[in-house]
Amino acid sequence: MKATARAHTNIALIKYWGKRDEEKILPTNNSLSLTLDGFYTTTTVTFNEDATEDTFVLDEQVVSGEAYERVSRYLDIIRRYAGKENIFADVYSINAVPTAAGFASSASGFAALAAAATRALGLDITDQELSMLTRQGSGSACRSIYGGFAEWEKGKKLDGSDSYAVPIVPANYWDVRVAAVVLSAEKKDISSRAGMKRTVDTSVFYQGWLNHIPDDLTEIKAGIMDRDFEKVGQIAEANCLKMHATTLGANPPFTYWHDTTMAVMQTVQTMRATGIPVFFTIDAGPNVKVLYLPEHEAIVEKTLQEAPGVSDVILSRAGNGISYI
Ligand code: DP6
Repeated sequence: MKATARAHTNIALIKYWGKRDEEKILPTNNSLSLTLDGFYTTTTVTFNEDATEDTFVLDEQVVSGEAYERVSRYLDIIRRYAGKENIFADVYSINAVPTAAGFASSASGFAALAAAATRALGLDITDQELSMLTRQGSGSACRSIYGGFAEWEKGKKLDGSDSYAVPIVPANYWDVRVAAVVLSAEKKDISSRAGMKRTVDTSVFYQGWLNHIPDDLTEIKAGIMDRDFEKVGQIAEANCLKMHATTLGANPPFTYWHDTTMAVMQTVQTMRATGIPVFFTIDAGPNVKVLYLPEHEAIVEKTLQEAPGVSDVILSRAGNGISYI
């Protein structure tokens, strides 16, 4: 009744931004991501017949409060799925995700938890079923089941049984790299969950966002298949800007950007003007992730490190999907 799994985080190039069902975590649009090797979570789940409640230890600290409740509620979903509702678990996780890098540790966290918990309960499930279950912990996590590029299909069904990620190409298909530019160690004030809800409920730009997703997806998938970096980078950067534009049309309006976020965006665009193909993307926080090719690694790292307000630059390659240890 014990299993250990490792999952890597992922960065969305076509963003997931909005839910059609908040409880089941069903999205309004398909999204597409690249799994990264530098950022991962390793989780051991041990089900214990004698335990009277779940426990959760993260990076050697006992977790309580909302973060604990979220994990325990998620284990309820797995228990229900397995038909084993009265057995509790000890969850032990180590994050190799520098929290300050602003990489959603919830993506690698819930993917590793889902994989370890289902394996510990002896469930024999496909990657698709695992992705569908992982989605119910945190939406973006369902893409971390796979290495390389993956697409989360929003699905149509009310029960969510057709909403899961599918692999596009594995990590070794294309050596695209990502620099995580760390600007701020402050906790973000509006979580992605709250930010996307406010946007769906109130943003006058939200329908515009949804209208352009199908074209962005078709184009970026063609670009990935052709290993066309300019095309993939341009679509990813534009998609990120459209997502962030929706927050300005919300009520009350908000933005995740700091002045330093915009300074890095400008640094990236200036590098591009000098002939280095680099593109940015930004999630629900101030930090910037920069896409680049291996031959430009040295200049990209140096230029980003010298940009105003940058405290760290962490380089990563495409990573693999779930593994069991
Ligand atoms: C901006 O997956 O963290 O990073 O499903 O509510 O847990 P919940 O949200 P979450 O949202 C991620 C939003 C994003 C874009 C993306 O990763 O696609």
